[in-house]
Amino acid sequence: MRMYDIIVKKRDGGELTKEEIYFFIEGYTKGDIPDYQASALTMAIYFQGMTQEETATLTQAMVDSGETIDLSAIKGHKVDKHSTGGVGDKVTFIVGPLVASVGIPVAKMSGRGLGHTGGTLDKLESIEGLQIEMTKEKFIENVNKHKLAVAGQTGNLAPADKKLYALRDVTGTVDSLPLIAGSIMSKKLASGADSIVLDVKTGSGAFMKTLDDSENLAREMVNIGNNLGRNTVAVISDMNQPLGFEVGNANEIREAAEILQGKNVEDLRKLSLEIASHMAVLAEVFSTYEEAYQALEANIENGKAFQSLRTLIESQGGNVNMIDDLDKLPKAKYDIEVKANKSGYVSAIDAESIGIAAMYLGAGRATKDDVINHGVGITLNKKIGDRVEEGEALVILHSDEESASDSIGKVQEAYAITEEKVEKPTLIHNIIK
Ligand code: URA
Repeated sequence: MRMYDIIVKKRDGGELTKEEIYFFIEGYTKGDIPDYQASALTMAIYFQGMTQEETATLTQAMVDSGETIDLSAIKGHKVDKHSTGGVGDKVTFIVGPLVASVGIPVAKMSGRGLGHTGGTLDKLESIEGLQIEMTKEKFIENVNKHKLAVAGQTGNLAPADKKLYALRDVTGTVDSLPLIAGSIMSKKLASGADSIVLDVKTGSGAFMKTLDDSENLAREMVNIGNNLGRNTVAVISDMNQPLGFEVGNANEIREAAEILQGKNVEDLRKLSLEIASHMAVLAEVFSTYEEAYQALEANIENGKAFQSLRTLIESQGGNVNMIDDLDKLPKAKYDIEVKANKSGYVSAIDAESIGIAAMYLGAGRATKDDVINHGVGITLNKKIGDRVEEGEALVILHSDEESASDSIGKVQEAYAITEEKVEKPTLIHNIIK
């Protein structure tokens, strides 16, 4: 088999066989196929697309290029969730305990963040003492015992994707639906869960800006999951503004804990219950979405879901006093108001700019060696549709520096205010099964 023939076949719109896809992925991972041929093929895929079968095969080949996590020692149906990424997205900290509180095992492997705000692990490390590095045995023991553990990704998962994603990033081939879907799903499948709920974000602050693109990506991923034997559901949720009111690390943990204590931050609570309900149905613990939703909501009201968060923290060595008394979480030295320069209604909040403003404060990493400052962040006082008067605070910056002019500029850039009344955006656009 020759790589040249595979490139030409795809360039001319042909359908690649399983053997050809494995030849490419195995050869590229080993270093036998050079970057220039891999980039020619990914560009051909960008223009010609892939069939559902080709996409599923590509994904499986990327899973097979490295290690997979064997969760078979965990009793019960394991469910996982994945978000395509958004600003203020602390849903994992709510959904994990919530789902675990009805007895469903959640074995969560997470990563750190680059750019914007921190990743799941960075946010969790706002809690003093909390360990995210653990042996595979300890991880499995914790899930069996407490139904929930969150750990840093171990092992060499989907190395083909790692190499290919880096190549796509510099060759203009990231924006290809089969390649994105295969890339995300290969990592999820290698992590070993039986079922997966995908939170596919849509809007100005999302990877996919239009609803059409988000739905197409969701469909591709759901097809891959189902084709490869994992029940997969995608929730298309809005990312035209940050989720909830808090953006940062410790303040996001605080907001997640408050939701589990029963506070009603409308968009965040609703989306969390939505995702958790689909997970609970996929785990076959409830037969209908409505039944699952009711049981999960009841576990917020009766304190079981919050208790599940406490157990997670204690079992991983974290200081649970910080969650019992949320004022003990890390805090920045200064609170700086960013004020509206006119009266009206908030019509847009560019989530990416808010994320960058938080990063400037130290909540995210500009380079991978940067150290996260857990106490800094942003609290939004106004969201889309809210009335605001000139001079009123749009957000509060939590900063360790007395002046934060770069972040203030970014926030001012992010907010648009109009005279006309504005509707609140729809939160959940579609469910794809
Ligand atoms: N995220 C991924 O993991 N892969 C892509 O291709 C795009 C976004």
